[in-house]
Amino acid sequence: MSLVPQPFTPPRRAHIVGLGIAVPPQVLTNDDLAQRMDTTDEWIRTRTGIRERRVSTPDIATSDLATQAGRMAIADAGITAESLDLILCATTSGDYIWPSTACILQQNLGATRAAAFDLSAACSGFCYALATAAAYIESGSMKQILVVGADTLTKQVNWSDRGTCILFGDGAGAAILAAGPPDAGVVSSIMRADGSGVESVWLPAGGTRTPITTELLEAGNVGLEMRGREVYRFAAERVPEVIMDALCSVGLNPSDVGLLVMHQANLRIMQTVSERLNIPMEKVFVNLDRYGNTSAASVPMALCEAKAEGRILPGDVVVTVGFGAGLTWAANVIFWQGAANG
Ligand code: COA
Repeated sequence: MSLVPQPFTPPRRAHIVGLGIAVPPQVLTNDDLAQRMDTTDEWIRTRTGIRERRVSTPDIATSDLATQAGRMAIADAGITAESLDLILCATTSGDYIWPSTACILQQNLGATRAAAFDLSAACSGFCYALATAAAYIESGSMKQILVVGADTLTKQVNWSDRGTCILFGDGAGAAILAAGPPDAGVVSSIMRADGSGVESVWLPAGGTRTPITTELLEAGNVGLEMRGREVYRFAAERVPEVIMDALCSVGLNPSDVGLLVMHQANLRIMQTVSERLNIPMEKVFVNLDRYGNTSAASVPMALCEAKAEGRILPGDVVVTVGFGAGLTWAANVIFWQGAANG
């Protein structure tokens, strides 16, 4: 009998069996931004890779996009909302400070049996939520979970800060996770955090530490703040590391990756990760040119589009990775099967 601890293999794994996406109809191009502030299409494209983003009009809140994406994922999976055990919504721009946006989703979808809560890990939110939901499924306590990443950060940016407002867009992506055989599905997840970076990218006002006051509003100091270069360096260093850790934990290496679905923050970050891990850009999914950084929504939106474009096939190793405020970062390794039968 071996005394060496063996990696834990649960009797079942979480499989992604349905995907959905939703974005608001209004498109804001780089040229539109150049008419409102001192910037150019060329600057934004060359520094970030973004060409346009979607922005919510005042009548659209995060739960509206989340509901649309959730409905699409439920239909794609061929299940009913009543069969869901849990709705887990990754967001940092929920409709209200409380209660959770997941509860609004539960009501909108008619998921009467489902528990519901939000998860706050900013742009790493979907990867954190995938890890959390997968653990519930592996434990046997839940069978079907709706995981949503949804954000409308264009409502939180400071439109007079050209260094940040050009980056963000609104959207939602959703995935149905279902219990399936243990030899496939979400086979590894690694979540990391470094609270020393709380102020690297954050929304300082509006919470209990710094409530919004008339003075803050008059000074225009109520939006998202970011130290761009610091965040860039953090991502370039930590993202390759967490991908390697997640792959190694299941005995894989970068050459096994069929598709890398990264948080869509900056094309140059994606190119750096691609170079460092020697994963060619053809295997890195990119849709940030059309949507910008949609925070927790970016990974599930990218997964949904990648699947629809035929970029993910049964048998593929798909790696999802997120990074953002907190600081937080996380990666998941998925042996894609596509349909649960266990
Ligand atoms: N248009 C034109 N010029 C701009 C500009 C804009 N939208 N925003 C900033 N600039 C200017 C700056 O004022 C500065 O000018 P100066 O040299 O005269 O002072 C110059 O461009 C360089 O600014 P800097 O902020 O140093 O640029 P950068 O090369 O670091 O690029 C980011 C800025 C935001 C694109 C880059 O730092 C980045 O992508 N960081 C990671 C951010 C991220 O991914 N965040 C999300 C994490 S979830």
